[in-house]
Amino acid sequence: MDATLAFLPGDGVGPEVSAQALRVLRAVERRGGHTFDVREALIGGVAIDACGSPLPEDTLALCRAADAVFLGAVGGPRWDHAALTVRPEQGLLRLRSALGVFANLRPVRVHPRLAHVSPLRPELLHGVDLLVVRELTGGIYFGEKRRDRDADGAERASDTCTYTTHEVERVVRVAAALARERSGRLTSVDKANVMETSRLWRAVTTRVVRDEFPDVRLEHMLVDACALHLIRRPAAFDVIVTENLFGDVLSDEAAVLAASIGMLPSASLRGAGSGARAFGLYEPVHGSAPDLVGRNAANPAGAILSIAMLLRWSLGLPGEARAVERAVDAALTAGVRTEDIAEPGAHAATTEELGRAVAEHLMSADEDVPSLIGEDSP
Ligand code: IPM
Ligand code: MG
Repeated sequence: MDATLAFLPGDGVGPEVSAQALRVLRAVERRGGHTFDVREALIGGVAIDACGSPLPEDTLALCRAADAVFLGAVGGPRWDHAALTVRPEQGLLRLRSALGVFANLRPVRVHPRLAHVSPLRPELLHGVDLLVVRELTGGIYFGEKRRDRDADGAERASDTCTYTTHEVERVVRVAAALARERSGRLTSVDKANVMETSRLWRAVTTRVVRDEFPDVRLEHMLVDACALHLIRRPAAFDVIVTENLFGDVLSDEAAVLAASIGMLPSASLRGAGSGARAFGLYEPVHGSAPDLVGRNAANPAGAILSIAMLLRWSLGLPGEARAVERAVDAALTAGVRTEDIAEPGAHAATTEELGRAVAEHLMSADEDVPSLIGEDSP
């Protein structure tokens, strides 16, 4: 297959982990049968520095014309002061919105060898295999924002949270279809005891699942209770579907289950039916990690596993996706681990060492054994 990929390394550790993602992509190419035309472009803080905009027009045009988009990270202390009205994160939010990638898939699996690295007790983590489906292009992230003064002259700020029936329906359909391919259980998370948008969310979710996915078992959970149960009984969850802000918070919390947020990949899709190829934006869940920049210490696994998701969802190459996931397993099992997931007292691998180990395992592996992590669809 010939594919064109837009490649946006971005800020902070973004370029470091993206280089390892690209190394693994090139290894997939060398295994044969595929040519990837990888075109790099600017986003985030580096784009602000170069041309004043966090999402330059030519970057967006490149992404629109590509088969899929890979992004490293955006943001950093340099662009963080409150006085700035142009911020790196605006580039990412605009990109998600302009590409219409409303369904954000964040799978969380626990590599058995990493269970004891997590701050949680290993027995709690046994069998954890969940998927957060986060609504990505609506809600409070994209509502009206205001800063003004009330009648007494006191400063006042507001963010508006809005959801339409259509926005809820389409993301719930993606989540329910995925739940059907997994264990058939779907947890919809909201704050329906307080928020009107959540009451709409709950009503629409109930109807869509009842009418279109009668075989899927739906439960509703309030977001505060979900935060608690994610830690108390994480293995009980399968697919979680929730609005933009709740999904942002819960997916960072869920990252603790996988030992490090550096392990987690994500795919943001325009829709996903069984078997169909979907356009998507692929990013590791971790951010720009300013404390790690330039130290060759960031964990590239989340970025590499995002490449696996890209191969599976946008390029329709599930065999290659599984091979990448198995190669990550193999590298971790062999003990090649960055400092966030290293054994206490053991030598920590660099970003490059882990990337290279994954690429080497990929080139040497051939038999089709099941993966321990990754795999979020057939
Ligand atoms: C994420 C990040 C982004 C978000 C930031 C960088 C805007 O936290 O992808 O989870 O809030 O969506
Ligand atoms: Mg986040």
